[in-house]
Amino acid sequence: VVEVVIQHGAADIAALVADEIEKLLAAKPDAVLGLATGSSPLAVYDELVRRHEAGRISFARARGFMLDEYVGLPDDHPERYRNVIEREIASRVDFAPGAVQGPDGNSDDLLGACEDYEAAIAAAGGVDLQILGIGTDGHIAFNEPGSSLASRTRIKTLTSQTRTDNARFFDGDVERVPRHCLTQGLATIMSARHLVLIATGTGKAEAVHQLTEGPVSAMWPATVMQHHPHATVLVDDAAASRL
Ligand code: GLP
Repeated sequence: VVEVVIQHGAADIAALVADEIEKLLAAKPDAVLGLATGSSPLAVYDELVRRHEAGRISFARARGFMLDEYVGLPDDHPERYRNVIEREIASRVDFAPGAVQGPDGNSDDLLGACEDYEAAIAAAGGVDLQILGIGTDGHIAFNEPGSSLASRTRIKTLTSQTRTDNARFFDGDVERVPRHCLTQGLATIMSARHLVLIATGTGKAEAVHQLTEGPVSAMWPATVMQHHPHATVLVDDAAASRL
């Protein structure tokens, strides 16, 4: 069941998502949050920081799990997702040291790193609320078109579309965008108890149309969310323009 919420802009969407997270943490201070990178969740993170600074939200007992990570970026690379999450949210609120984890894209045993990551999420009791963005090709996390709907955390090759989309984070140079990543699988993401997907701008309109109105298909990986019991899709007017 996908609930679609249309808002006028990113700030309105951020306020609604922050409301959900504030409610969750009030009811369950040790909640497990699923954190996404990309530009879509940034306004949410800013709003969470504001509410934390206002004394409304504490993450002191919460945990965070990231969706995905590039393979092979230097540890201190600013676009390594672990560093992005640290910069955009983890270091700005009161998460305990080590409370936010991601798959280790620099492990010399990448298969083992994927298994360890699945085990860590399970040991934490699973994700209560998973924040998601969506790729223009309908990917969630780095589950590109053709991904198995039953997939778990694994190594994936990025499509040239996604590498082109993400070149803006690498000085506009697609050659600098890594070719491989580790990503939670679609089944991993589907295990979260509440999925909250944010999409803004006309570039996402087709993906949002497929996600909400298209047939469930590995060619538009986000359509798997139609089988989730509690999925919320928050879009602005532009991203809703094909609905
Ligand atoms: C990347 C990330 C995804 C994200 C997507 C959309 O490929 N791996 O998790 O949802 O981009 O990014 P943006 O929100 O910047 O449009």
